Order: sequence, then structure tokens, then C-alpha cells
Amino acid sequence: MDGNGRWAEQRQLPRIFGHRQGVETVRAVVKECRALGIPHLTLYAFSSENWGRPAAEVAALMELLGLFLAQELETLITEDIRLRVIGNTALLPPEVLQVLQRTIERTAENSQLVLTLALSYGSRDEILRAVKGLAAEVQGGELAASDIDERRFSASLDTAGLPDPDLLIRTSGEMRISNFLLWQLAYAELYFTDVLWPDFSADELRRALDDFAARQRRFGLTSAQSASDS
Ligand code: IPE
Ligand code: MG
Repeated sequence: MDGNGRWAEQRQLPRIFGHRQGVETVRAVVKECRALGIPHLTLYAFSSENWGRPAAEVAALMELLGLFLAQELETLITEDIRLRVIGNTALLPPEVLQVLQRTIERTAENSQLVLTLALSYGSRDEILRAVKGLAAEVQGGELAASDIDERRFSASLDTAGLPDPDLLIRTSGEMRISNFLLWQLAYAELYFTDVLWPDFSADELRRALDDFAARQRRFGLTSAQSASDS
């Protein structure tokens, strides 16, 4: 979800106005995913690297996040949406962590859409935490190094239990992955749009989905092989 700052700067507004408008886009996109029956949506809301932004912007983003979670709880419950989180959440302010944990618990049984927020998330950090966990299991004699396969490794990541993404959308014209789901995106289709996140919408989402639907996914096979599969 990129481009909040530029959206605000184009209007000579402080960056936080862009983040606030970005929250409205989050609401619209979650609603559209729910309406379309998309079972998983993961939003890269705050990266490990974002901690390095000016303290006032970090504080404003954290406040916005806490507010969003508190405001959305009722909708998540009525819409049967489950909230999950990935990232090094121990770094989040305690009041944000509290409302986050409460929302996760209160929506744990919901099943129509799994909404995953990547918070204080960095893929390399996630991979290293997984590797350390597995190494500790090997060291403790609970796991044989030779038993570490792709399934086992995936299950050690923050995204354990989530399917790998089919489609990655990045807004605002940047063509980078920026340390997002590096392992999980192995076969994802990538979609880049110049639209800034605050201007992204249900219509823009459907445009991305139409583009995705027209692609042929071969997963390393030939087109004849993958055509016979589907
Ligand atoms: C993305 O918008 C939102 C967060 C990182 C929280 P940016 O804040 O990165 O917006 P630009 O890139 O400055 O336009
Ligand atoms: Mg940016």
C-alpha cells in the first residue's frame, strides 16, 4: 500500500492526511474482497524499515492503526472476517498490541475472509526468526536437520497456515518487492499500478483481478502441461 505520502504532498497536506485517506482505501478494498468471496487478503501496513521514519510520523501511524482496529472490530465480527497479523509485533506500542490481540481473539472463529496485517514486518527478519526456531529444535534434538523441507519451513514462518499469495498488487508506480513475503511470493503474479494507494479503489482492485485472470500460470511447467491441468 504505497503512495500515501505523495498523495498528501500533491495536495500540500501533511503526510498523515495521506495515511488517513489510505485507511479509507483499506476499508473499501476489504469490503470488496469480502463481496467477491476472496478468502485471503494480506496488507503490508508497516515494515520493519518504517520504524526509521521520523518519530512523529511513526507515532501518527501507530495511533491510526490503533484507531482503525478499534473502529473495525464490529464490522469484522458482522462480516465474518478473521484478523491475523504477521511481523515482529513485540516492537509495537503496548496499547496497539492490546487492541490487536483483542481483535485477533474476538475474530478467531470467523472464516469468510482472513485479513492479515503485516505490521513491523520484514521478510528477511521473518525468515531469520524461522531459521533460529528450527535451529533451536535441531539443537534440542526434537528435529532432524534432514527433515527440514519446504512444508516444514513454511510452517515456521509467520504466515503458517496461510496459502501462498496468488497475486501481489503494488501501488504508486514502484516496481519493488521491498522485503515483503520473499519466500511466499515464489509463484505469485505481480501487478504494478501507478495509482497512489489513497486513490486505489474497488474498481482498481477489479482491474487488477481481471488482469490476473488473463494470465497463464505455469508453475515451471510448459504451457501444454499447465493447460491440461486446468
Ligand atoms: C505507504 O505510503 C504507507 C506506509 C508505509 C505506512 P508511503 O508513506 O510510503 O507514501 P509515499 O511513498 O511517501 O508516497
Ligand atoms: Mg512509500
